[in-house]
Amino acid sequence: MVAREVARRRTFAIISHPDAGKSTMTEALALHARMISEAGAIHGKAGRRSTVSDWMEMEKARGISVSSTALQFNYRLDKTSSGVDEVNVINLVDTPGHADFSEDTYRVLTAVDAAVMLIDAAKGLEPQTLKLFQVCRHRGIPIITIVNKWDRPGRTPLELIDEISDRIGLTPTPLYFPVGIAGDFRGLLDRRTGKYIHFTRTAGGATIAPEELIEPEDALAREEDDWTTAVEESELLSEMGQDHDQEMFLAGQTSPMIFASAVLNFGVRQLLQALIELAPPPTGREAIDHTVREVTDAFSAVVFKVQAGMDSSHRDRLAYMRIVSGEFERGMVVTHAQTGKPFATKYAQAVFGRDRSTVDTAYPGDVVGLVNAMALAPGDTLYSGPKVQFPPIPSFAPEHFSVCRAESAGKYKQFRKAIDQLDSEGVVQVLRNDIRGDASPVLAAVGPMQFEVVTARMKTEFGVETSFQGLPYQLARRTDAESVDELNRQRGVEVFTRSDGALLALVSDKWRLQYIEKEHGDLTLEPLVAAAD
Ligand code: G4P
Repeated sequence: MVAREVARRRTFAIISHPDAGKSTMTEALALHARMISEAGAIHGKAGRRSTVSDWMEMEKARGISVSSTALQFNYRLDKTSSGVDEVNVINLVDTPGHADFSEDTYRVLTAVDAAVMLIDAAKGLEPQTLKLFQVCRHRGIPIITIVNKWDRPGRTPLELIDEISDRIGLTPTPLYFPVGIAGDFRGLLDRRTGKYIHFTRTAGGATIAPEELIEPEDALAREEDDWTTAVEESELLSEMGQDHDQEMFLAGQTSPMIFASAVLNFGVRQLLQALIELAPPPTGREAIDHTVREVTDAFSAVVFKVQAGMDSSHRDRLAYMRIVSGEFERGMVVTHAQTGKPFATKYAQAVFGRDRSTVDTAYPGDVVGLVNAMALAPGDTLYSGPKVQFPPIPSFAPEHFSVCRAESAGKYKQFRKAIDQLDSEGVVQVLRNDIRGDASPVLAAVGPMQFEVVTARMKTEFGVETSFQGLPYQLARRTDAESVDELNRQRGVEVFTRSDGALLALVSDKWRLQYIEKEHGDLTLEPLVAAAD
């Protein structure tokens, strides 16, 4: 039972730079799964609800998605296009979509088995895509590449392919080649069958674009030079060895590529097909003691995100867990590995956008939100049956450091409580040292957006106005007790203890770091796990 559920599941995230079309693609995928009758119902502006809390106001004002959620849908592949005849369950875990960056974004990627790298045909690789790509590479997750917006003028297919190979060392192996240049998207050459898939536009791209499967001779007659160009360029790629290779894809060395238009719903079915046929189903996970919890073993899950105060109508704390093994049934009492305490899962929910629905059963690969999960923190393990504890999610190297103060001394107690709460949720990293004392801790973040989240939550949930004062440090290095005194004597360096006990030396810039490393070779200054390691 569990094995069959696992085999039909695929859990992935879309990594992209803002505006590349992630929301539009999410809608298009949901449309294909017929979850919504017309594209635009999930994220579309018209679909936005008007009753939103301050929190949501902030999200709306910046056009960002602070919440990280998972969309689950069923999809059955067309039998004619593959040998698979099974209703597949697709979990799309949403990565926060703002231009800035936070630890949440990284953590989400620990919950997926594959990533779809979505790039804009005119812009190619952009900074946020690159950062997220590095995290995927670090984790060894297979990546499918989507070149989106092919309905608009952009670069040539070969330019985009070269850019990806040259800049990030990932070799694209297009599954389909576009027929018609960017801006004149006629259809796709299926490189594996040699056939032509012709798309027909629908009004406003609101419904699935009808596809016509055409034999090569007829394609030539119909598209003439556009067809010949596609065939020639595709052959060129084959000569260079850029055909799909499942092993290389799973090893993260090559990336099946699809040209698409999310607004027109072109290439979207092809993405679903690639996910189902090529992306890996959930697999077991290695525990701290190096044993592997297999997917068919007793229930276990990892919390990868904790979130609170999202919405005034649901003011509570939600922990999102990704199921690693076994069957989850709502109401079962599981054990929280970190404390050994029982945890009742009466309020398990599937959450997407503003909507929540109760989850009754779930399987490996699925994401379930647990309500009022006050004791749970990112990286925690929940299990039933034989005990298991998975390794913690690495805390990523912070690059932004600020002193945080309560504006009013009278609110100090709430301020402390809030800091502890936000720390335990992993919203920011909290640093302390004896010199500064405890009154105004130093907060460390991967992206400055995390400080805004702190400000907003301090105000709405704890009624505390805060101010931030940036510190002139750019780097953090892990150090040890023996090095602390000497480091504190250095200019541009300050040592702190992070709440997980790690000693961190903050350094003003990389030149200072290089200087200290040269002059004091005996000091411990280890790089932290950075996303790009
Ligand atoms: P994001 O979540 O990655 O930030 O991007 P989003 O889907 O919001 O898309 C950003 C803009 O790009 C939107 O335009 C969207 O309509 C457009 N877009 C997305 N996919 C495609 C595509 O395949 N082709 C074309 N031509 N455009 C695409 P907007 O002007 O910001 O909003 P709207 O007025 O269209 O809603």
